[in-house]
Amino acid sequence: MTLRLGDTAPDFEAETSAGRIKFHDWAGDSWIVLFSHPKDFTPVCTTELGAVGNLSGEFKKRNVKALALSVDPVESHKGWIGDIEETQNCKIDFPIIADPDRKVANLYGMVHPAHDEVYTVRTVFVIDPKKKVRLMIVYPQTTGRNFNEILRVIDSMQLTDQYKIATPANWQQGQDVIIVPAVSDADAEKAFPKGFKKVKPYLRTTPQPPQG
Ligand code: BEZ
Repeated sequence: MTLRLGDTAPDFEAETSAGRIKFHDWAGDSWIVLFSHPKDFTPVCTTELGAVGNLSGEFKKRNVKALALSVDPVESHKGWIGDIEETQNCKIDFPIIADPDRKVANLYGMVHPAHDEVYTVRTVFVIDPKKKVRLMIVYPQTTGRNFNEILRVIDSMQLTDQYKIATPANWQQGQDVIIVPAVSDADAEKAFPKGFKKVKPYLRTTPQPPQG
């Protein structure tokens, strides 16, 4: 199955390190970062799960729940979590799906056979509270992910869902944003009381509006 942006994220039931979950019920009204790992007890994955554990407060601030996946069984995940917490100085407070039959992995296209026939690659799906797929990124097995970048995109999506704006390259919280071209100058004046800078007729920037 090929998922595309805007698709409804497929529902599933799965065993996890924190018990059995029904995905859509478990997600509730939160944003979800669903991310796959090739295998338990591997070095890059250990640092990635530690990074997510250490960003727990940042996830919560944004109403985001993390959900990891690897094809190993629950007992293996539980042993590995001990290692991750010990070596990465973190608490793993999110579930890791055990997917030995690759049911979830296949549903989300997490196995890329020309790269590795057996193990999942490093996929990231960001799913919004309406269960729509909003971001998909695929990394090779030898490159650990930058979870600050995932949070940066979530910040952008949560802001641009609220206003007729977009965020420029390398944007970070608090920086100027772009008014989308469909908004006229007259409407922009009303919608953005701090005013805007017209660099070109199609490139207008305004201070970041407040997030509500
Ligand atoms: C790792 O997570 O360290 C890893 C997994 C598969 C291939 C290479 C590295």
